[in-house]
Amino acid sequence: MTVVRLASETDFAGWREAARSLRAGGVAPEAAFWTVDGAADLFGEAAPAPHARSGGGDAPPFTVPREFMEVAGAVILHRSDERFALLYRLLWRLQGEPNLMRIASDRDVATARNLAKQVSRAAHKMKAFVRFRLTADAEGEAYVAWFEPAHRVTELTAPFFARRFATMRWSILTPDVCAHWDTQGLTFTPGADAADAPSEDSLEEFWRTYYASIFNPARLNTAQMQKEMPKRYWRNLPEAALIPELIARAEATTDAMVAQAPSEPQRRVSRLPKREAIPEGVVATSLEEIASAIQTCRRCDLYMCATQGVAGEGPKTARLMFVGEQPGDQEDLAGQPFVGPAGQVLDRALAEAGVPRAETYVTNAVKHFKHELRGKRRLHRTPDTGEVTACRWWLDQERGLVRPRVVVALGATAALSVLGKATPVSKFRQQALQLPDQSQGVVTYHPSYLLRLPDADAKAKAYALFVEDLRFAWRLAA
Ligand code: URA
Repeated sequence: MTVVRLASETDFAGWREAARSLRAGGVAPEAAFWTVDGAADLFGEAAPAPHARSGGGDAPPFTVPREFMEVAGAVILHRSDERFALLYRLLWRLQGEPNLMRIASDRDVATARNLAKQVSRAAHKMKAFVRFRLTADAEGEAYVAWFEPAHRVTELTAPFFARRFATMRWSILTPDVCAHWDTQGLTFTPGADAADAPSEDSLEEFWRTYYASIFNPARLNTAQMQKEMPKRYWRNLPEAALIPELIARAEATTDAMVAQAPSEPQRRVSRLPKREAIPEGVVATSLEEIASAIQTCRRCDLYMCATQGVAGEGPKTARLMFVGEQPGDQEDLAGQPFVGPAGQVLDRALAEAGVPRAETYVTNAVKHFKHELRGKRRLHRTPDTGEVTACRWWLDQERGLVRPRVVVALGATAALSVLGKATPVSKFRQQALQLPDQSQGVVTYHPSYLLRLPDADAKAKAYALFVEDLRFAWRLAA
């Protein structure tokens, strides 16, 4: 048995050096035992020096896939005792199975990815739940927090706190390691005890007031709440003391809210220019009229949270029309369809297929950006059938004016809008589907789907099919 003794629980550099040396020396995973300096010594006096050097000195260097290094860097921070051995087993297997990291069903790969995910979640929770308390020392005000991370993520998250609280002197004490920021640099000292941290200060009241004011009783979902704010973090959160009472009062508070008079609409909404929507049953006479009238659309609620409605773009004479799902974050801000990351994929594929975008009309099934807020980010949400149906009125107006020969539905939502029923893309692609207005429908993938595919091979294949579909549609429209 070769024993490897790492300098600390998070000694990734030490693990890498030792693992490289073991692998080059032909030490099989079953023959390696991983431990950490200071851990109980099963091997008594016989324990070897810090890093195993089993004759790998002259062995040729080798490379490992980037995915492995990314996963390994996270897994090392997990509290699992098996992590060093698991990573070495993966490294060993990568010699004969270079694509191993892409096999999601492999037990070792799945375990490693799962551990990495738990570490990432622990880092996220640490960023959300550290609460500083104000103290003072010889140099003036300082902020101190006590935190017990689920995994060893203090060193990983410390730069985040340094950026966020750059002008404060602060320390985050944890049982594993303590991070300190003096407004210039980060330092780390050994783990501490909860008793080393201040227990109460004036900021407690601030946290409680803030939390009580953002708590929305009408949206209470205790299961989801505990998922987002697991109980293990409650004891160090000043605001957690309020939770049981806020939950108990939620129903009565919601009833009182419902009984209240409705409030004024948001300023942003009431500032919208007063333009006439095209009345039901009336046919728009120009694309400009549609673009303007979309800004006053109230056919569903999506206008409330979007910056603006996004109409289609392109010449009225276009023979080919592309219909996407809905504007994304960037389209919502720019007021133009397909200008963000999905638009870039579309542009590239159009260029490869020899289709000039400027000669096509590009629009969406739904004209407002449906999203949810996650911190400062606006995360896309798929429009539901009601929203797609409500917005089809606008698409029909656009189709009526442009009268394209071919309408290409990009993805399932667009297919639902254009064809009026759920249409599996893979089954119906490369077919000319007759539409009631005498145009032809073609379905293909949505560019965002191509962006999301995790596997490089699958991505390349799907992209090639996408280009083929664009070519097919362009020929059909000729
Ligand atoms: N995705 C879409 O479906 N449409 C856009 O305009 C942008 C992204």
